Amino acid sequence: MLSKKIEAALNQQIAIEAMSSQAYLAMASWAENQGLGGTAAFLYKHSDEERMHMLKLVKFVNERGGKAVIPALKQPGTNYKDITEIFKALFQSETKVTNEINGVVDLCLKEKDYSTHNFMQWYVSEQIEEEALARTLIDKLNLIGNDKGGLYLFDRDLLGMGNTPLKG
Ligand code: FEO
Repeated sequence: MLSKKIEAALNQQIAIEAMSSQAYLAMASWAENQGLGGTAAFLYKHSDEERMHMLKLVKFVNERGGKAVIPALKQPGTNYKDITEIFKALFQSETKVTNEINGVVDLCLKEKDYSTHNFMQWYVSEQIEEEALARTLIDKLNLIGNDKGGLYLFDRDLLGMGNTPLKG
């Protein structure tokens, strides 16, 4: 059975994952309207992944005798200067998510809730991957600068990543 504190922290994390999904969906739509089909595919998939992160939490909370709260969502920003701004925003958002996850892990230890601690390790690993990926993409964009041919290839690479199946 989850303690009230852990239940609240997990519900907060549900809201964060849901907001991330919504934010990446807005970024995907922006990219699609810019003709960046690969970037859009990548971001649509990323949005789906965040929804899956949310769903995993919803099911865990309910399975452990808590009540998952499905949050209302704010409209995300829709205006981006360029693609680099998108990936910088994505990276910043992921570092915030990492801090939140670390906070939940910390609380699990304080509350001696080792099953939730164990469950949260999946999120800890996921954050390492996501931050590393965002950092790599920003580095690539910095290298490309204003080179249109480079941007074309970048977008094509992301199409490959966007078309791979979702991780479960
Ligand atoms: Fe679910 Fe990208 O954090």
